[in-house]
Amino acid sequence: MTHPMTTLTQAKFAAVDIDAIAAFEGRVAVLIGADGKLDTAARRVNRLMKGALARMVESGAVGKMKSGDIKTLAWPSGMAAEAVDVVCVERNAKSDEARKAGVALGKVKGDAALLVLAPQLRRPVDLMLGAVLRAYSFTARKTGDAPKAPGEITLMVANPDELEAEAVDARAVAEGVFFTRDLVSEPANHLTTTEFADRISAMKDLGLNITILDEDELQKLGMGCLLSVGHGSISPSKVAVMEWMGGTKGEAPLALVGKGVVFDTGGISLKPAAGMEDMTMDMGGAGVVCGVMRTLALRKAKANVVGLVGLVENMPSDRATRPGDVVTSMKGDTVEVINTDAEGRLVLADVMWYAQETYKPSAMIDLATLTGAIIIGLGHDNAGVFSNDDTLSRAFLKAAETEGEGAWRMPMGKSYDDQLKSQIADMKNVGGRPAGSITAAQFLLRFVKDGTPWIHLDIAGVASVKSDTTYAPKGATGWGVMALNRLVADMQEG
Ligand code: BES
Ligand code: MN
Ligand code: ZN
Repeated sequence: MTHPMTTLTQAKFAAVDIDAIAAFEGRVAVLIGADGKLDTAARRVNRLMKGALARMVESGAVGKMKSGDIKTLAWPSGMAAEAVDVVCVERNAKSDEARKAGVALGKVKGDAALLVLAPQLRRPVDLMLGAVLRAYSFTARKTGDAPKAPGEITLMVANPDELEAEAVDARAVAEGVFFTRDLVSEPANHLTTTEFADRISAMKDLGLNITILDEDELQKLGMGCLLSVGHGSISPSKVAVMEWMGGTKGEAPLALVGKGVVFDTGGISLKPAAGMEDMTMDMGGAGVVCGVMRTLALRKAKANVVGLVGLVENMPSDRATRPGDVVTSMKGDTVEVINTDAEGRLVLADVMWYAQETYKPSAMIDLATLTGAIIIGLGHDNAGVFSNDDTLSRAFLKAAETEGEGAWRMPMGKSYDDQLKSQIADMKNVGGRPAGSITAAQFLLRFVKDGTPWIHLDIAGVASVKSDTTYAPKGATGWGVMALNRLVADMQEG
């Protein structure tokens, strides 16, 4: 079976060809630093345009530009191009700045072919990645003319062959991000738990070892918390396990665990109507886990990583869990379900326990669109980072910063945990109103074994955003794929 997947804009590297510049139809991008010096290729464009670039520099217009800004000269004389885009970026720009220049170009590019003249840029692959990441559009559910394949991107550089090898990894990253965005964008009647599992199974072709656990197996494992969430839905609950063991034989893997609630109505504790349609993205944590696993497989990472996602739908029905019900986790602890809308933690608790029992992971990171409260606290710029391990958490924050993905550490502590005391069971599934994101994290911590370094990422604010973000047009962002891919490289491939 084939599954719709948004394709990457083609991007390739070529040697600088002075003659080809004049003849290029589409948009030509010229890079310029704050000093306004023209590189060899820019000088060629300047000559073709009879000095227009030099005049632009002399006017002081370039000096006022900030990194990532673009000034466009339309229908330049002496060239076949429809426009010359002058992009401000320093030659030795770090990866995030180089990417932002690419993002800016990706934005103005539209469907046109783009020729980027970058003979002296230190990180052209990052520029390419930025342009490719920005040029995303989810069209799988639109009819009408099939969308035109976007014009390809050519980067003229000093060392095309070397960069082509580096670009393989960058494309693997972009493919992972697009996979996540497609999953997050997909509505819940299309992305059912079964369809989700099928799309994961299709990644067998990439060399991932995939196992799908069905309801009977989950029952036998004792995953009463996870199953209680999916009870009300006609869609069967599932846990999907993706193994990538490309690293040292016998070494414990990193475990990535994702919340995959394909739709969250709130259950019997029904959500209000306004905005409920956004809950198609409540599988965002699982989406990121799948995107990372895809990237690792595509770039054949020398690392051991296992991804586990709990796929359920939270629906009200005669079979649904009631507020006040007490359910038993795989760990054995009982939970009083005060609010059926606090379902993500119930799903994660069982999948996290299973991950630790099965793999004895060296570390465990869970991702979830877990609380509305994290959006109140951090908005859409940063995911909440909760951890029992300073070293792991510092390593993650560094990876996220390098990749330009916002992340902010939040506190934890016993007094928050005390809010989870239940009269009749071992714990309740909600604390009070105060510190809702932290009490959710405290709930999860109860399912982390002593000695397992762990991070919980609350991505409710960053998984899908209603305005453009650094690397994505409005909608699904794929936040976290790049940071986690970098963390895996830092921890296991360094
Ligand atoms: N999926 C929601 C959290 C969410 C809210 C994600 C907004 C994305 C955007 C989660 O399952 C939920 O409903 N959480 C409740 C918890 C509460 C009942 C303790 C919330 O945040 O209101
Ligand atoms: Mn909920
Ligand atoms: Zn939810």
